[in-house]
Amino acid sequence: MKILVTGGTGYIGSHTVVELQQSGYQVVIVDNLSNSYASVVDQIEKISGIRPDFEEFDLCDEKRTLDFFKRHSDLDGVIHFAAFKAVGESVAEPLKYYHNNLQSLILILKGMQENGIQNIVFSSSCTVYGQPDELPVTESAPIKEAWSPYGHTKQISEKIIQNNANVTDIRATLLRYFNPIGAHESALIGELPIGVPNNLVPFITQTAIGLREKLSVFGEDYNTPDGTAIRDYIHVVDLAKAHVIAVDRLVKNKNQKQVEVFNLGTGNGFSVLEVINSFEKVSAQKLNYQIVDRRPGDVEQVWADTRFANDVLGWKAEKSLDEMMLSAWNWELALKKAK
Ligand code: UFG
Repeated sequence: MKILVTGGTGYIGSHTVVELQQSGYQVVIVDNLSNSYASVVDQIEKISGIRPDFEEFDLCDEKRTLDFFKRHSDLDGVIHFAAFKAVGESVAEPLKYYHNNLQSLILILKGMQENGIQNIVFSSSCTVYGQPDELPVTESAPIKEAWSPYGHTKQISEKIIQNNANVTDIRATLLRYFNPIGAHESALIGELPIGVPNNLVPFITQTAIGLREKLSVFGEDYNTPDGTAIRDYIHVVDLAKAHVIAVDRLVKNKNQKQVEVFNLGTGNGFSVLEVINSFEKVSAQKLNYQIVDRRPGDVEQVWADTRFANDVLGWKAEKSLDEMMLSAWNWELALKKAK
């Protein structure tokens, strides 16, 4: 079985490539390296013992993308990660986000259609729910006004896939991620943000290692037990494993509907301060942080109802918050050692 992983040198993509290889899948990566490094291919090979095929090009390039699919018409499926994902940047540069995230998806679907490739797993996000009225949030919760152009690209992408499935035989699984964190236990791959991290956990580990002076905690006046915002953090390897199950389900024709949607989270919400406490405990480091104003665009609290994914995919996130934070710290330490 051969799977295209777009964005396969990126954070979630690289962990998923490893899990696919370890489950016997052959993998081809396409990535333009806009937010990742070619060396990740070497790291993947060190873990799995198998070098994935890798082609470096931009999936917004129509000629190259359609040519790729022509050359790889034997693909059994596609897992589409490649996208821009910085919420703040999407507010500042909306056209960049709409162009990149939508154009690439459209071309991938076109390439699949032209070559009879039927199966696609798509990286969506819990951001499609905005601030849900009810928690934990289920897959049938209303899709609300997006809080950022980034979030809107995920909502539109889901619609594009659904509309397209209505008139083609393409089958899709939309995976709505909550907050992926942590790194592979080998500490050979992990989150490698280029520049200053936007996300909480890489900011924590970079502060503790001395790359940043202090962490800003965005807001302590939320309506939550300790006043800081709550998210459902999920270990990236747990998330990666769900992709293998999802793609397996499609290629083996086990899906119940042409388009299926699953929340991928743990079902547990943790506040920013709880994440910091967990980090301090497992790393034995004192973290320098200060409370500042809320970050515009942040929702107050969100965590997943995971029952549908648990029951239908037979998948459950296994790693605890402490395990997630320890693996993130080990990864930061490994990066320092490699310098
Ligand atoms: N936070 C801080 N300080 C920081 C960074 C983050 O206090 O330096 C807080 C945020 O305010 C938020 C929490 O930590 O309360 C998590 O923030 P992240 O930036 O790590 O994650 P988000 O929940 O904002 O965003 C993530 C993904 C998006 C996805 C979104 C869905 O990065 O791609 O989840 O909610 F769309």
